[in-house]
Amino acid sequence: MNTTVLILAAGDSTRMKSSLAKVFHPVAGLPILYRLLNSTLPVSDRTGIVLGRNFEFAKANLSSRFPDLHLFHQQHRLGTGHAVLQASDLFNNTDADHYLLILPGDLPLLTTDTLRKFIRDTKQAKPACSILAFEPDDPSGYGRLVVDNGKFTGIVEEKDADTDQKRIRTVNSGVYLMQASLLDTYLNRLENTNAQKEYYLTDIPGMMQRDGRNVVVHTAPDANDLMGVNNRIQLARADQIAVARHRNKLMLSGVTMISPETVRVEETVQVDPDVELHPNSQLLGHCVIRSHVTIGSGSILRDTQVESHVRILPYCVIEKSVIGSHSQVGPMAHLRPETHLGSNVKVGNFVESKKARLGDGVKASHLSYLGDTEIGSETNIGAGTITCNYDGEQKHLTRIGHHVFIGSDTQLVAPVSVGDYSYVGAGSTITKDVPACALGISRSKQTNIPDWPRKKGKKCNNQN
Ligand code: UD1
Ligand code: CA
Repeated sequence: MNTTVLILAAGDSTRMKSSLAKVFHPVAGLPILYRLLNSTLPVSDRTGIVLGRNFEFAKANLSSRFPDLHLFHQQHRLGTGHAVLQASDLFNNTDADHYLLILPGDLPLLTTDTLRKFIRDTKQAKPACSILAFEPDDPSGYGRLVVDNGKFTGIVEEKDADTDQKRIRTVNSGVYLMQASLLDTYLNRLENTNAQKEYYLTDIPGMMQRDGRNVVVHTAPDANDLMGVNNRIQLARADQIAVARHRNKLMLSGVTMISPETVRVEETVQVDPDVELHPNSQLLGHCVIRSHVTIGSGSILRDTQVESHVRILPYCVIEKSVIGSHSQVGPMAHLRPETHLGSNVKVGNFVESKKARLGDGVKASHLSYLGDTEIGSETNIGAGTITCNYDGEQKHLTRIGHHVFIGSDTQLVAPVSVGDYSYVGAGSTITKDVPACALGISRSKQTNIPDWPRKKGKKCNNQN
């Protein structure tokens, strides 16, 4: 059985109240539509998507990631039946064995396994139409599957349903397999005499049934798989389920989580075995976390690569950075984009970095700003060191060699460099390059004035 997939994503997303089309809202870090494409592409020979107002945006965003899609434009949102008609080039002129797998674009949790089973079961019966149904805890909002004397008679939308029909718990997922060669005729027979004045795709199975054609219903075992997202409450729920699924998968693959329900790991994140994630930690976007890493409580990492045996202590914020093996970061460090730490680096509390490359074994243990800087291996950055990278107009680079000792409370006014094996005296403002193997010191000489309290008319009990 050949399968062509058609995803309907041209709706107005009115209930989302968003400037962004619903199918581009992320669930567990990945747009709903990307998730759906990832789960349908393995079962599809060809894939089409019907888009609406979001057509140009979708085209620009989808083409690099999913190059072989057939995109169709539904100019006016006249209903799901009308949407399918816009893509008739995709399924007309196909043989009787060809099935069109139709899916609504707002299913973020559908798995390939569920689809495979649905296709396999349908293949055996070869019906005119097969409907994937499910039984959610709360059926409201979904189309109900009406059954009379054990036989399917039609789908009734919530807005058109009477009180008895609203009590039906088996609902339409919006996923169907339909014999492609029959579709065009039925789509052209649709009418919009219903509460929403739309051409409902959901009317077709009932019409086929009345024509004496074979319509079958398959009920999916996991209702979560088929949850549709129409509003932000459902979006949040879908996100929760997707994140929980990913957490469970990771825990089964050897990742330790303490209070897992508080840990957010997006599906785009790779975590190796023997990593320990502490309460309220968040791994977002495209993070890669290698083995034997600990991520402390409340730390948030985005698009960051962490090599093995690293300890991220609590409450760090790290973005678009790379952290070399055996390093330690935090607590309360802020590593901004393009921070590269070598191995065995120590970055301590209240250190902020940006576009900073710290060589192996560098220590910046306390209270520093390291921006637009390169620091060679085994260099020590004293407490309170600041790279003054901005002159009010432009950013400049600070180059610090290897085996350098920068004393506490130093300001390095960029552009400036400090040579290998050099020292900078504490409290210096360095405005000129320090050559290799030298001491750079710029603070003024200390003066001690004796008897200072007495001169101010105060007592001093020290007899010496
Ligand atoms: C639809 C089904 C309902 C089912 C539910 C499952 C219909 C009439 N109703 O209801 O039986 O229980 O899905 O989640 O089909 N779309 C278009 N063009 C349009 C209208 C919609 O492309 O003119 C797209 C939307 O972008 C969406 C999908 O079709 O991805 C479904 O539309 P939506 O408005 O979400 O339908 P529901 O009310 O959820
Ligand atoms: Ca929907």
